[in-house]
Amino acid sequence: MMESKAFTRRKGFYVRMKLFPHKNFRAQEKSFFIKYYKWVLWVSLSLYFFTSYYISHNHKPQETTAPIPKTHLSNSKSTFPSRALIESSSSTFLHQVQQNQGLLKEVKVFVYDLPPKYNVEWLSNERCSNHLFASEVAIHRALLNSDYRTFDPLEADFFFVPVYVSCNFSTINGFPAIGHARSLIASAVAHISSHYSFWNRTNGSDHVFVASHDFASCFHTMEDVAIADGVPSFLKNSIILQTFGVNYKHPCQDVEHVVIPPYISPDSIQDTLEKSPVTGRRDVFAFFRGKMEVNPKNVSGRFYSKKVRTMIWRKFNGDRRFYLQRHRFAGYQSEIVRSVFCLCPLGWAPWSPRLVESVALGCVPVIIADGIRLPFPSAVNWPEISITVPEKDIGKLGTILDHVAASNLTTIQKNLWDPRNRRALLFHNQVQEGDATWQVIRALSEKLDRSYKRSRVLNQ
Ligand SMILES: *[C@@H]1O[C@H](CO)[C@@H](O)[C@H](O)[C@H]1NC(C)=O
Ligand SMILES: *[C@@H]1O[C@H](CO)[C@@H](O)[C@H](O)[C@H]1NC(C)=O
Ligand SMILES: *[C@@H]1O[C@H](CO)[C@@H](O)[C@H](O)[C@H]1NC(C)=O
Ligand SMILES: *[C@@H]1O[C@H](CO)[C@@H](O)[C@H](O)[C@H]1NC(C)=O
Ligand SMILES: *[C@@H]1O[C@H](CO)[C@@H](O)[C@H](O)[C@H]1NC(C)=O
Repeated sequence: MMESKAFTRRKGFYVRMKLFPHKNFRAQEKSFFIKYYKWVLWVSLSLYFFTSYYISHNHKPQETTAPIPKTHLSNSKSTFPSRALIESSSSTFLHQVQQNQGLLKEVKVFVYDLPPKYNVEWLSNERCSNHLFASEVAIHRALLNSDYRTFDPLEADFFFVPVYVSCNFSTINGFPAIGHARSLIASAVAHISSHYSFWNRTNGSDHVFVASHDFASCFHTMEDVAIADGVPSFLKNSIILQTFGVNYKHPCQDVEHVVIPPYISPDSIQDTLEKSPVTGRRDVFAFFRGKMEVNPKNVSGRFYSKKVRTMIWRKFNGDRRFYLQRHRFAGYQSEIVRSVFCLCPLGWAPWSPRLVESVALGCVPVIIADGIRLPFPSAVNWPEISITVPEKDIGKLGTILDHVAASNLTTIQKNLWDPRNRRALLFHNQVQEGDATWQVIRALSEKLDRSYKRSRVLNQ
């Protein structure tokens, strides 16, 4: 894929810049030469991006096989951002990456080596590392392989505690059963606090956990129970990486935390994009596939998706602009990449894997989840790349999307198709500059006041 090749290049240039022999130059000559070097770098990168963009866009998209009835197809032509825009934003990105690298490379994370029952034993089920809550696995793997890892706990700013709690799949409905989550994590904390001295010296405040399930650090799928249970007391001082986030006070985010994206396999995205690039033809106007109960169940006074999905189904099923599907289809990514707008309504929790898939596949996310707080706002400019529709306005969805299509759709797509967005929301086995694990490290670098090591250095 275009970005991964670009990364190799960037690394190469970066290393060469650092190795450049300065010694024999006077300061002035040195800065002149560095400027000149940057210029060469800039031109070669621009050329590189120009050619790779050109090549990737001459690549003819293959026909997708998903049968989509003609009535749902839109007449609107897809638009393309100018090459100049893509080139310049990529070059600017290079500079940002280099600046950030300086800051980030000092962050050191110690990864506890826990007994296998806390993590790798769960991997015997292959789904464990691929389902939407698998960031708990992905971040662990990426850290193990990364330059941010330190094997010396005395050198560490942060301590990562790798516990996979979302891999116990129910045999009845196939969803993860997380009833054991609290006790599994409590047991891991008991293990590290008795085998190592680092938990006790800060009471866990420089320790990092992943809570990727619906209501995150409350570890329950139903909001009322989650709220009643709250964040386990033994985690209260720690840093939690969680998918759940709202912009109002909520007991399940009453802990130091970072909002992270749900896990989508980067390989699946790459496969889909190879068949059909983000800038390809989009003949479906508005798309949603997923659970949409016609007669939603009342579970202790709560309705799935606060009935939003039911309303979408009732109001827009049969509307020729909308392609709505209620059944599972393994090839649904090929539908996203053909769509202009992708609906991302809340489920039990406000967040949805569709947010990541829409951005990664270039379909404008239509976020219908009041108060949602989205991942990595410093890397992904959400208001510029998505549409937000209040839950109460769901009936006006058609009019709203028509209005956007007639006014600023081109601008939104241009913003959305910037590859930085895609990169920031995907986890890879090896940390890549700007990817989701990298964003986690960046977020941690803003919490260095919790680092025991740093506080010692400052007080000396
Ligand atoms: C997996 O989940 C089931 C259902 O919640 C539970 O009974 C079982 O103890 C869990 N397994 C483990 C190993 O925690
Ligand atoms: C940490 O504190 C707990 C309880 O306060 C204690 O049981 C444990 O032995 C301590 N760990 C170490 C390594 O001293
Ligand atoms: C550690 O933090 C927990 C949760 O806030 C608290 O209950 C406990 O008293 C703290 N222990 C110490 C030794 O500070
Ligand atoms: C949903 O169920 C609760 C009790 O569990 C009940 O009080 C409430 O009236 C029900 N709501 C509707 C709309 O049926
Ligand atoms: C596009 O227009 C809608 C109103 O129709 C507005 O809410 C949104 O902020 C605009 N987005 C951008 C990126 O201009």
